[in-house]
Amino acid sequence: MPKFWPTILLFSGFVSALASSQSFENTAIVRTVELGGSVVHVTTTYAIKSLTGASNVYTIAISHDEREHTSWLEAKVKGQQQSLPTQERAFDATKGYHLVDVTLPKTLPVNKTLNLVLETIQTHVTHPYPETAAQGDDQSLKYTTNLFVISPYATSVQRTKLRALTPRLLSHTTPENVEAFTNDAPVTTSGATIVYGPYNDIPSSTTHAFISEHQQPITVHYHHEQPVLEVSRLKRVVEISHWGSNLNTQDDIFLHNAGPALKGHFSRLDHQTQSYFKRPAPHVLSALTLHLPAGIRNTYYYDLIGNVSTSKLRAAASVPKNQQGSQFSILELKPRYPLLGGWNYSFTLGWDAPLEDSASYDRHDGKYIVEVPILTPIPGAVVSDAELVVILPEGASDVEFSLPFPALSTTIGTHITYLDTTGRPALTFRYKNLTIRHAQNIYVSYRVATSAHLKKPFAVAAAFFSVFILAMFARRVNVTLHQKKKAV
Ligand SMILES: *[C@@H]1O[C@H](CO)[C@@H](O)[C@H](O)[C@H]1NC(C)=O
Ligand SMILES: *[C@@H]1O[C@H](CO)[C@@H](O)[C@H](O)[C@H]1NC(C)=O
Ligand SMILES: *[C@@H]1O[C@H](CO)[C@@H](O)[C@H](O)[C@H]1NC(C)=O
Ligand SMILES: *[C@@H]1O[C@H](CO)[C@@H](O)[C@H](O)[C@H]1NC(C)=O
Repeated sequence: MPKFWPTILLFSGFVSALASSQSFENTAIVRTVELGGSVVHVTTTYAIKSLTGASNVYTIAISHDEREHTSWLEAKVKGQQQSLPTQERAFDATKGYHLVDVTLPKTLPVNKTLNLVLETIQTHVTHPYPETAAQGDDQSLKYTTNLFVISPYATSVQRTKLRALTPRLLSHTTPENVEAFTNDAPVTTSGATIVYGPYNDIPSSTTHAFISEHQQPITVHYHHEQPVLEVSRLKRVVEISHWGSNLNTQDDIFLHNAGPALKGHFSRLDHQTQSYFKRPAPHVLSALTLHLPAGIRNTYYYDLIGNVSTSKLRAAASVPKNQQGSQFSILELKPRYPLLGGWNYSFTLGWDAPLEDSASYDRHDGKYIVEVPILTPIPGAVVSDAELVVILPEGASDVEFSLPFPALSTTIGTHITYLDTTGRPALTFRYKNLTIRHAQNIYVSYRVATSAHLKKPFAVAAAFFSVFILAMFARRVNVTLHQKKKAV
């Protein structure tokens, strides 16, 4: 009797796979890869057509390598703001790819079409080549991906465009064994863009036969005229103080230039000459521009040696909560020394801000709600390892929080300073591989019994604010790559 089970399971699995692979077809797939430094943005548009009118779940396939390097994934109907719910299936190691189910807004009637846009961000996917460069040399990188976007559905036509920032492409792979899909050149270049395809009449490609016969890596080698930056570690501590009505944010940042390692010695004279002629070497970081919140004061920036005074801050005036994000204070941050390939620089950046710019008081349940940004993005950089600590006022109780996307770990502890008697509740969130798309807010709510006299300034916008938060969570119950990953 038990002997029959595997057969039945196999058979039913086969039937459901067959049924799902026949529910749609792709009339076209276009993948666009924005070649970058430590972060690569990929947009894939699937023009899908319903064959049965029976399913509202469309399945996307992502190769295992690519999935390992994907830190953000979001699916939308083209032209719409709202992201669609996605659910990653358990990984089957024998297949070598991951399947993500996207729930469409509604079941698509037979022969109706829809454009689905998948946005992903890959991190740590480019490599400097050559691996070392002298101070005045160019910087070039290599990026590798798969030739075909695989799909459980048949595809009428697909192409992949890889776009560099400058039209200085060095080399690219010419694919083999694609005669079945095209009569023309399998790859063409134009300016800063390399195009693979169009390839026609591709069968359902999440099959062992297709992958072993046609799938292949393609590598492009391109000049990249910006430093390849990584934040190897970010520790942000945000301290909420009702006493001074202050929100202090302090970032400890370990910056790493992941470009080609410096060959030979660093010459400050050469660097100054290059800067003077406005031709700084592309792999050397001399300054960073950061967008800090409006309304900040007492900004400080120091490193291991002491205060760094070469930076410029243009502080924007405080703006009300509902307009946060519309204005920024601009910090032009100059490290103490130019950061060359392979070098590190660690520093501390901090500021104070009026608490009422990020907090509100909910009269109905007597709780404060504070909005805390997870990070301040450094343009083009991935944050490989991040820790966010939120320190609440002494005596805060009924602490709750909500996250825009799941953290790898969350702990609730107590932070004790010498002025406190009982210590302050502290929340710690850990993340990996954060990018600009992760620069969102965490909301923390809590009760404080003793500071009733401070409630007034918060009362005004409270009702509005809670509606806003509700709307926000309604929108963000989708992208849960980190969580999925943990579940696997
Ligand atoms: C972070 O990125 C690295 C390199 O891309 C990858 O190996 C690792 O699995 C990622 N970690 C998480 C938690 O996503
Ligand atoms: C869908 O399109 C096919 C081919 O164009 C046609 O044969 C079929 O009748 C259409 N079905 C419906 C329900 O419109
Ligand atoms: C850095 O500057 C701050 C004020 O801007 C000052 O209080 C502090 O003592 C300075 N630290 C050092 C090491 O110079
Ligand atoms: C920079 O930091 C990384 C770890 O983040 C370390 O492996 C590397 O050796 C450091 N480089 C230098 C030049 O100190």
